[in-house]
Amino acid sequence: MSIVEKFVTMDYGPAPEDPREALAWLDRHQRRFAHFINGAWHLPIDAKYFDTTDPSTTEKLADIAQGSAADIDAAVKAARNALPAWQSLSPHVRARYLYALARQIQKHSRRLAVLETLDNGKPIRESRDIDIPLVARHFYHHAGWAQLLHQEFPGYEACGVVGQIIPWNFPLLMLAWKIAPALATGNTVVLKPAEFTPLTALAFAEICQEIDLPPGVVNIVTGDGSTGEALVAHPDVDKIAFTGSTEVGRAIRKATATSHKKLSLELGGKSPFIIFEDADLDSAVEGLVDGIWFNQGQVCCAGSRLLMQESIAEPLIAKICDRMNTLRVGPPLDKAIDIGAIIARVQLDRIQRLVDQGVAEGATCWQPSIPMPSRGLYFPPTLLSNVHPTSIVAQEEIFGPVLAAMTFRTPSEAVELANNTAYGLAACVWSESINVSLHIAAQLKAGVVWVNCTNLFDASCGFGGYRESGYGREGGREGLLEYLDPAWFKNAPQLHARPLAIDQPPQQLPASAADSLTPPPFTPEIDRTVKLFIAGKQARPDSGYSIPVHAADGRLLGEAPLGNRKDIRNAVEAARKATAWPKSTAHTRAQVLYYLAENLSQRREEVANHLSDVVGKQQAESEVTASIERIFTYAAWADKYEGTIHNPPFRNVTLAMQEPIGTIGILCPTEAPLLGFVSAVMPALAVGNTVIAVPSEIYPLITGDLYSLFETSDLPAGAVNIVTGRPAELLKTLAEHDDLDALWVFADAPTCATAKSLSIGNLKQVFTNEGRHIDWFSPAPSSDRFFLHHSTQIKNIWVPYGE
Ligand code: NAI
Repeated sequence: MSIVEKFVTMDYGPAPEDPREALAWLDRHQRRFAHFINGAWHLPIDAKYFDTTDPSTTEKLADIAQGSAADIDAAVKAARNALPAWQSLSPHVRARYLYALARQIQKHSRRLAVLETLDNGKPIRESRDIDIPLVARHFYHHAGWAQLLHQEFPGYEACGVVGQIIPWNFPLLMLAWKIAPALATGNTVVLKPAEFTPLTALAFAEICQEIDLPPGVVNIVTGDGSTGEALVAHPDVDKIAFTGSTEVGRAIRKATATSHKKLSLELGGKSPFIIFEDADLDSAVEGLVDGIWFNQGQVCCAGSRLLMQESIAEPLIAKICDRMNTLRVGPPLDKAIDIGAIIARVQLDRIQRLVDQGVAEGATCWQPSIPMPSRGLYFPPTLLSNVHPTSIVAQEEIFGPVLAAMTFRTPSEAVELANNTAYGLAACVWSESINVSLHIAAQLKAGVVWVNCTNLFDASCGFGGYRESGYGREGGREGLLEYLDPAWFKNAPQLHARPLAIDQPPQQLPASAADSLTPPPFTPEIDRTVKLFIAGKQARPDSGYSIPVHAADGRLLGEAPLGNRKDIRNAVEAARKATAWPKSTAHTRAQVLYYLAENLSQRREEVANHLSDVVGKQQAESEVTASIERIFTYAAWADKYEGTIHNPPFRNVTLAMQEPIGTIGILCPTEAPLLGFVSAVMPALAVGNTVIAVPSEIYPLITGDLYSLFETSDLPAGAVNIVTGRPAELLKTLAEHDDLDALWVFADAPTCATAKSLSIGNLKQVFTNEGRHIDWFSPAPSSDRFFLHHSTQIKNIWVPYGE
């Protein structure tokens, strides 16, 4: 073949990476690995092992210990014992350990890259040039955070012992994303790698030994889902961080509901890859190669749904097919390979099954005629066109090299299609118009948006999802907050542990349901009857029933409506429609909040008088005073709780935008009917959420005072809705409502647990007091942005610069 022919065909021979050093490392361990607990290798208590294999050959690489509940227990004990000494180290010393980990990873980078490729099947080009450098970068970046911890997060404490469960698609990178921030913030760790890819985690364990990391700070227990389950269930674990399938994420949410374990979930995705007609199509096609064929498409943020503007669909598809014809599928240790092996037979079968289903639903399947390896687990790059937006291949994560293509006409149709999924992990927007790109990026329900680029990651930029893609972020400042809690919150006593700090204990609602269901007899003294407040209007409850409200001395004070399922649904609908509020400027929101405070100030006496019947004069007056100040605080924050700009080491800026979560249901605290409502609802409103609030159980009549304020304060109809009734019943409806983005509950521990376990349908974010007593009168709840942090989710928008 002539040079010219070679240039045209790009036909070249194999360029295999030498695996000898990695194989020698396996041999040094006799190809049999125990758990890494308390700084030493620890044989599995049940003496059970499983195989880890090379998916490109299906040959066995090593025996791996199958972790049992007893192994997990030993690891958790080691982590717990190591915690005090690890926490008592100065930030600088912890920083030095993280720095040493980063250096050691760099020193062994080639071995780690080869091991990763052997165990996972991903092209060596990717493990060598992307995964491992990012792993080192993550430890360097977090060595810096360890150093700055106290000055940047004053008043915050580490969670404690952290359980971490990771998937197989980026084995060492996911370990770094989990372990680096956990250690930087002073936690100790038990990590369970995925059963398909444990090797680099075990190599990392050895690195921990090499740098003399104190025993027990990092523990690695290998095993399958049952090992993960044991870690999730362990009572002495303070936080679970999980990356994997949405299905397992749901199970973990449920399993942790009755504990106070903090939880972060990074789950699946079905990310849109949107190409506008003015895009640089050649660049977009290159981006797409990365978007869907990087790591064989086994990427949670893979650009698996191609949305093309109709006018360019035909030439674009032709370009994509041309490019697909040049993709090289083959042994992943070959440096010239684009697409390696699929992780396991079960995944290969799943990909084929989903593709078949897509075709049965009307999609056209195209695969290039390129050579495929004769052995090993491979799937050809695949293009499904004419995909209907409701088809399984447009809705479900395939986790393989399969692109589902659809068209759109207008930018708004693009947004609608892009958001037409339960997920919300990432998105790509390709357009030469920065105005269009950023306008679209702002409307996408996704935690990461790449403009004219794709699959860029950096330790300084948060990564994580909206909606069923999970919650919490990894990377950057926001990632650290997943491993920290404010001390005032973390160490607050449980609600039953001490009497509430009020001058007269409130009277509880009558226990008998039958009692309160009976329509009350007419009594002339009853002068206060409130209604629900939905869509800016006072509304009668669907049930037609009211519940009596009593004063502290037992007097009947008035009637509150007995809201039900239907009222909650109406309220959620009203909150959803109240788009004027999230779209309003921060300045406007600040003005409205100031106006609310002004109105409350003017009606101070009247509100305090009402309230004093239930909580006593002294508390009533302090509640009103503190509420005015608290509303001022959040009015002040409304136009100051801003995002940041990250400078990742690429030709990009990353705009970390603080976005409202959406529509939030809030079960307000019982003990401080006005101040509790204000403390919870105002931060949510300040940043542009809409709210359905269930007011204090002991004094739902506060609704009357509140809607009088809202009605006179320019708050758009539907921004706040108030539904009174039986909290337990209303909570169930809120938790199970799939159009609610978050649920906040300030109540006793069993109620908080119910909120968590019933919220798994759409995996809404759940924020509770964990059954703790929050002193609403102290400045703490509004002092450290804690409520604002829970009111927002960060969207990282990557924007390239340069030619
Ligand atoms: P998976 O979610 O079952 O596994 C992820 C990790 O969770 C593994 O370490 C596994 O051992 C562990 N695990 C499994 N069941 C558990 C349980 N009940 N409690 C605690 N830990 C548990 O994912 P799998 O089965 O490997 O892949 C299935 C699908 O999940 C893929 O096709 C893909 O769609 C999705 N997935 C998404 C990932 C992401 O990064 N978002 C990563 C891996 C898979």
